[in-house]
Amino acid sequence: MDKDTIILAIESSCDDTAASIIKNGRIVSNIVSGQPVHGKYGGVIPELAGRKHQQNIVHVVEAALQEAKTSKNQLSAIAFTQGPGLGGSLLVGSSFAKAMALSLKIPLLAVNHLQAHILSNCIQSESENKPIPSFPFLCLTVSGGHTQLVIAKDPLTFELIGETEDDAAGEAFDKGAKMLGLPYPGGPHIDRIAKEGNPHLFKFPIADIKGFNFSFSGLKTALLYFIEEKKRVNPNFLDENLADICASYQYTIVKTLLDKMFACAYKYEIKTLCLAGGVSANSLLRKEFSEGAYKNSFAHYYPSMQYCTDNAAMIAQLAYYMYQAQKFAPLNVRPETRLGLHS
Ligand code: KG4
Ligand code: ZN
Repeated sequence: MDKDTIILAIESSCDDTAASIIKNGRIVSNIVSGQPVHGKYGGVIPELAGRKHQQNIVHVVEAALQEAKTSKNQLSAIAFTQGPGLGGSLLVGSSFAKAMALSLKIPLLAVNHLQAHILSNCIQSESENKPIPSFPFLCLTVSGGHTQLVIAKDPLTFELIGETEDDAAGEAFDKGAKMLGLPYPGGPHIDRIAKEGNPHLFKFPIADIKGFNFSFSGLKTALLYFIEEKKRVNPNFLDENLADICASYQYTIVKTLLDKMFACAYKYEIKTLCLAGGVSANSLLRKEFSEGAYKNSFAHYYPSMQYCTDNAAMIAQLAYYMYQAQKFAPLNVRPETRLGLHS
């Protein structure tokens, strides 16, 4: 009988310390330890994030092994997030992975975080038997740092079609939320409050960017001027209209994203669509995406909630394909803070 392929994956690109085990292509454990400490500063403090990863990583890896009922001696390879991300954060994960691979004498896999978000759509776990997309598919990756339209041709081949020219969609949510007095990260708060509001009450601009690139900095500025102007007339305007503002602002972001995505799918004649990244947890985006795809006869997928925001299961999923293709990294491989989609 063939030996099991069991990979431990570590994700530490930003402020979540995460570890996951994939066994013969199925996720068998997925542990994420967040860092709520950044909330009080209104954003991630890089130095603090690195220190917290160092505090958390041993426990998180142990918990992932334990949940998978796996001992480290059974591992076939160790994977880690090579980038993009915060330098100090990436160093903790990469150093830990290297030390483990070296001591266990097993191969190392350096995984691209952006590609991994896309493959979160292909995750199959022991607990859920979810249908997964077939290749090629068009993926809209929307996170705190990135907004990209990518054609995934196969599990290891990606073509970048469009991306943001300034703020990412997640940043548009987070910066907008900050102006509205909501805690960091603001995306989930806007999502929750918008449920009570009218998305068509206030009109915000959609940037007219040619091709398949995006821009969100104008929208953020428009919200700032809108709030200032309204508050001059009525100092309680924000409190009295918060749900409608959230709903209208969120609607504008979602419409900007999906109009481009569907146009892109038609242009490139892609029949299968996917979402990925933290913002793909947004309830309006998921709803409008599903309805639009259904109406236009696209096959469509999005990751389970736990695989939308940063996690190690998606790193493990891509690592599994890389292991099969024997795409191993040398022990002197370096983390790359600005790694693009094509590593
Ligand atoms: O993928 P992710 O966890 O980290 C990055 O790689 O950036 O994405 C984090 C982003 C944050 O901007 C957060 O506000 C946003 O995802 N986000 C949401 C929702 N949940 C997370 N944005 C809108 N609606 C949500 N429900
Ligand atoms: Zn991410």
